[in-house]
Amino acid sequence: MSDSPLLTRRPEWTALEDHRAEQHAHLRELFAEDPGRAERYVVRVGDLRIDYSKHLITDETLALLQELAGATDVFGLRDAMFRGERINLTEDRAVLHTALRAPAGAVVEVDGENVVPRVHAVLDKMSDFANRVRSGEWTGHTGKRIKNVVNIGIGGSDLGPAMAYEALRAYTARELTFRFVSNVDGADLHEAVRDLDPAETLFIVASKTFTTIETITNATSARTWLLDGPAGLHDDKAVARHFVALSTNAEKVTDFGIDPDNMFEFWDWVGGRYSYDSAIGLSLMIAIGPDHFREMLDGFRIVDEHFQNAPAEANAPLILGLLGVWYGNFHGAQSHAVLPYSHYLSKFTAYLQQLDMESNGKSVDRDGNPVEWQTGPVVWGTPGTNGQHAYYQLIHQGTKLIPADLIGFARPIDELSDELKAQHDLLMANLFAQGQALAFGKTAEEVRAEGVAEEQVAHRTFQGNHPTTTILARALTPSVLGQLVALYEHKVFVQGAIWNIDSFDQWGVELGKVLAKRVEPALTEGAEVPGLDPSTTALVAAYRELKEV
Ligand code: F6P
Repeated sequence: MSDSPLLTRRPEWTALEDHRAEQHAHLRELFAEDPGRAERYVVRVGDLRIDYSKHLITDETLALLQELAGATDVFGLRDAMFRGERINLTEDRAVLHTALRAPAGAVVEVDGENVVPRVHAVLDKMSDFANRVRSGEWTGHTGKRIKNVVNIGIGGSDLGPAMAYEALRAYTARELTFRFVSNVDGADLHEAVRDLDPAETLFIVASKTFTTIETITNATSARTWLLDGPAGLHDDKAVARHFVALSTNAEKVTDFGIDPDNMFEFWDWVGGRYSYDSAIGLSLMIAIGPDHFREMLDGFRIVDEHFQNAPAEANAPLILGLLGVWYGNFHGAQSHAVLPYSHYLSKFTAYLQQLDMESNGKSVDRDGNPVEWQTGPVVWGTPGTNGQHAYYQLIHQGTKLIPADLIGFARPIDELSDELKAQHDLLMANLFAQGQALAFGKTAEEVRAEGVAEEQVAHRTFQGNHPTTTILARALTPSVLGQLVALYEHKVFVQGAIWNIDSFDQWGVELGKVLAKRVEPALTEGAEVPGLDPSTTALVAAYRELKEV
């Protein structure tokens, strides 16, 4: 049991409450009083320029937040994580996704064993396999070249590679087709393979545990399609050329019928939502090639080293984490929007939803006591320009405080035509315009000065004062993607440390899994399922009736 004071009773916490009660200045006033904040509230890490000037903060707010970080020993927990201590308490595991991007000569020990050589051995095995698929040396069972790669996985075994494949499309082998199947809805696999030739298709079954029902069900159906589908190969030996596995569980992989030589290993100290830079990234590596994959790992490492070494006041993940605490715990914000101004980042926010919400969606502290403070926010968002024509209205003029991250790049990808490249300035003009409109709004006086009729003034007034962080980089390269992901990983870590929760377990997912297994026989066989509540019993009966119509 920890003997440290309850978070909300710490003097650093109550000092922030007092400060919040006194702080009413609008961003318009904060900038008028202190224009220098535009330059001062910028932190650089790697290729990222992170502008946090449009936040409801002053130097005093930042100082008080830093005191909270000091009092809750965020850096102490950070060091314990990097040292390989078992900070995932409820699963009694080390948390070492940072070892996945450690350089070859580094030493990171888990239970006295340096894991870095194992990490690099798997990376080498992945590189060799990826090169063989990309070059056509690895053929299918009939000797045909592999043209299609289908990743089957869910949660962290899907969202990371799917997001990164989308983000780095410009770097992918365009002659190969990549698909990502996650949903146990048979439609997902059906749509993914309906136009593919089994003889040219490689399935990558990605599952840390290799017990996840969605993944095992889809993988089994994929094997049936490969062998017995309309263009089936009708030879069990084909499985060895068309199925590989990414897992920590060699036994289950073998039970499934995948040759252990075709398994790419990772370890229990890599959380699912922190795993796409492990073997789980194999589909991505085949898509972008081993060199680009390693560049991405270098990007992760840049931010890891920054998080470890940068002083608190210039430490980007710490600052972003503290800003989230400021809004969630002292301003009552319930959600956080991530709004990339990049089509290639269309899956980035969905990826962050698991990273953040599965990590920090907790209501007991590390000792199991109920928390008396808000923990992780609802994370949401889609690419910014599309959002502008959908939900931005609520951010601008609704009643909720929604801090947002705006992410953009100075350069479009080289491949675009000149005409399409020219659209990039318009895209980015939208990002900058939104940041300004959200922060500064439009006063009633400004609206009146435009000659707007009095009865319309209230409707056309924008209160502003909506905080945003703007993250800018020159271009979305593999390294920059790694930097962005590591930035958010460590931001989530900082918040979990302050809230004193275990950010690395996910027991909340279990109950639904157990119940689904119990309910299924009631749907398929009409079996009596003891313990179903009356509402669910009625729903099951209605479902069975509809099924028969
Ligand atoms: O949803 C719970 C979860 O355990 C996630 O944490 C994980 O990413 C996902 O399921 C998939 O798990 P696995 O990789 O073991 O199939």
